[in-house]
Amino acid sequence: MTLVGETATVAGKKSHEGEVLAIRGGRALTGTVAVKGAKNLVTKAMVAALLGEAPSVLRDVPDISDVAVVRSLLEVHGVRVEEGPESGSLRLDPSEVESAHFEEIDAHAGASRIPILFCGPLLHRLGQAFIPDLGGCRIGDRPIDFHLDALRKFGAIVEKQPNGIRLSAPHGLRGANIHLPYPSVGATEQVLLTAVRAQGTTELRNAAIEPEIMDLIGVLQKMGAIISYEPNRVILIEGVRRLRGYDHRAIFDRNEAASWASAALATDGDIFVAGAEQQDMLTFLNVFRKVGGDFDIREDGIRFGRGGALRGVTVETDVHPGFMTDWQQPLIVALTQAQGRSIVHETVYENRFGFTQALVKMGASIAVYPNGLQDGPRRVPRRSLEQAAVIDGPTPLHAADITVPDLRGGYSHVIAALTADGESTVRNIGIIRRGYADFLDKLSGLGADFDVIG
Ligand code: EPU
Repeated sequence: MTLVGETATVAGKKSHEGEVLAIRGGRALTGTVAVKGAKNLVTKAMVAALLGEAPSVLRDVPDISDVAVVRSLLEVHGVRVEEGPESGSLRLDPSEVESAHFEEIDAHAGASRIPILFCGPLLHRLGQAFIPDLGGCRIGDRPIDFHLDALRKFGAIVEKQPNGIRLSAPHGLRGANIHLPYPSVGATEQVLLTAVRAQGTTELRNAAIEPEIMDLIGVLQKMGAIISYEPNRVILIEGVRRLRGYDHRAIFDRNEAASWASAALATDGDIFVAGAEQQDMLTFLNVFRKVGGDFDIREDGIRFGRGGALRGVTVETDVHPGFMTDWQQPLIVALTQAQGRSIVHETVYENRFGFTQALVKMGASIAVYPNGLQDGPRRVPRRSLEQAAVIDGPTPLHAADITVPDLRGGYSHVIAALTADGESTVRNIGIIRRGYADFLDKLSGLGADFDVIG
């Protein structure tokens, strides 16, 4: 399986997953960073372009390797992708969509989960789709069971093969009644991207309603889809026969904005995040304030820093409008510097505290409870996959040799190294480019002291 490692990025540059940084900590991060379109919308909007009969234009596309993976996959299916009318935009022309060979799809699928979202659009365009097995953690029954159950309800035939799954729809796709067991972001997108051109009406219950999903609905509506968002997580989609192209500016990346906000908090810095908007960050901002952070909301962005001494907090990750699971990792670095005990309950993923081991190596006091804490009633009902991290602070962090495990955990490792005394070695930095555009340039611009050493 080819990984993202040496894949061309959106601008045609190369990414290097194995990059190593020597980071000298103890300096506050100060200055401005600009956030562009959200990774978790842009990649889906690119897939949506497959459904149109005319070219689409997507604006504010970040230069990240997840975008490069989706671009390659679109290209192997015959979509022409080129630079759009302004810097950072893409023009996607699906007029010559064709079947691709397994080897090509496999070589371009990367370590991303997005290929699963090609199912509906490819079934509509070609009557068949092949999704490669991206490894045990991806194409096992469980992680995509909601997706496959939904596709079957639309009338797709799903065949598991040794190297992936093959889908066909000999009789076309028909609208369906679908109730998701959990408001999964990906499964909601799967249903949207399939239902818009299915015959008849689809009712989706227990849908995810993240702002990126609402933006995807906006994209699809521009293409001619009829989608209504009803009370109580219900989405109704009236299928249409044809869709046109769209011209869309992607919603800003609130995960990246929250990451820089936590970096300001951890390093006692002052960061203006240009492009950040209050409405989609309300929950984050409340927690940020409770920890002792201060922010100034302006028309063109939000300025983040400390408002005084940091204090411990209790946070539960949740689906929207809750506190996002992608926000907890950089925040935990800041919580190591807060006075008192913090508790973070992770309710979305079953294994998202692995990154804290590196923080403990650097001197943090963090205890992870893999089965969660029985500490009384909470806003989020307990899920079987819940776990908890208990952080006692403040603890000074010291330099260490650490290896980035994943995107958000990796970002937090870099921030921890910038918070720590001494020179840390942080390996596998390239993973961070999957979701953070111009990462090293942004760090330099904020005054971070580091060298690329490998
Ligand atoms: N789940 C299943 N079966 C399924 C689908 C999901 O059991 O068929 C479970 C998952 O295992 C997980 C939970 O449902 O425990 C939530 O998963 P969801 O489908 O909502 O997540 P996703 O679509 O795979 C997206 C983002 C994630 C973000 C989550 C939650 C993308 C590409 N990824 O993942 O972003 O954490 O929603 O908001 O949009 C990131 O950006 O670093 C990232 C991981």
